[in-house]
Amino acid sequence: MMGSVLSVYLMLLKRIISTIRYGNKMTNASYDNPFSLLHAVNLLSQQSRINKFSKAIDEVVTTDSIVFDIGTGTGILAFLAAKAGAESVIGIDVSKQNIDYARRASKANELDDRVKFIHVHFDDFNPEIKADIVICEMLSSMLLVEQQIPAMRRVNDSLLGNNGTTIPKSTTVYVVPVQSEYMWNRFQTGDLRFPKMPQSVGGLNEVDDLADMQTLFHVEYRDLNTDFHVSEKLSFEIITDGFVHGIVGMFEAELTPEVLLRPEDGWKHLFVPIKQEKRVRKGEIITIQIEYTPGEFDSISVAIES
Ligand SMILES: C[S@@+](CC[C@H](N)C(=O)[O-])C[C@H]1O[C@@H](n2cnc3c(N)ncnc32)[C@H](O)[C@@H]1O
Repeated sequence: MMGSVLSVYLMLLKRIISTIRYGNKMTNASYDNPFSLLHAVNLLSQQSRINKFSKAIDEVVTTDSIVFDIGTGTGILAFLAAKAGAESVIGIDVSKQNIDYARRASKANELDDRVKFIHVHFDDFNPEIKADIVICEMLSSMLLVEQQIPAMRRVNDSLLGNNGTTIPKSTTVYVVPVQSEYMWNRFQTGDLRFPKMPQSVGGLNEVDDLADMQTLFHVEYRDLNTDFHVSEKLSFEIITDGFVHGIVGMFEAELTPEVLLRPEDGWKHLFVPIKQEKRVRKGEIITIQIEYTPGEFDSISVAIES
């Protein structure tokens, strides 16, 4: 009897200790963040990305600048704007953990008088003033996965003053048809098959280009004000015999006319599979139809016209 009372008591004690250690907040909402704090902190190690943003911010920010940093993560780009002399900076993020972390960092760096952080989705951010400069780094290869385009649309609609500047200023997306047994076969493991979907390319030795790369689209963020949908037909001349398994996409972003951000600064290329592999011969011209809405991962379709 004493033994079972003791074991119930111990169980309750364990539960109380685990609630104190881990909190009671592991609700579904805790898992819903599109980017975890872990990812945001990892981005602090991308030194060439940070150096380029730092250079661009130094070029543009003045002592009377009001700056918004959309998708602030750790707050790094907001802090660079404050250090460049901005009068005030607001960083926003949809992740509560990121905002809490950025606030701790702003205190540690004694920047909390000029940098404020707000936990909010960019669509619900309704500041009383407009910004002179909006920084937004939600870039991803092909701008497919992250919210760069929807965020920049919101920036143009409601957040930036008439003569305001965005960092980045523009982005260009490039694509090339590729052969990649490695990417193609990863959707089959043993006798289990999985639906094919876009995947990050680990290293460029995993794919072979079958043609020269071409521009898929170019977007100037200040001109972005309508729904932006990519629907392009591109013709490629095949440079070697092989099988087309899909396309690989990448981007370059013009932070300012002087500073160009490239995939080598911290991004993996994206492989997007086609439905069925297609044999091709050197000299052949193939036409590829590419459709998607940037920011809507599931919207992409890539097809070779026969
Ligand atoms: C690629 S990270 C960049 C973080 C930081 N700006 C940097 O350069 O290190 C993108 C950030 O955008 C945030 N984010 C994603 N969707 C968002 C949304 N709808 N509204 C606000 N922030 C969002 C993510 O939580 C993440 O912290």
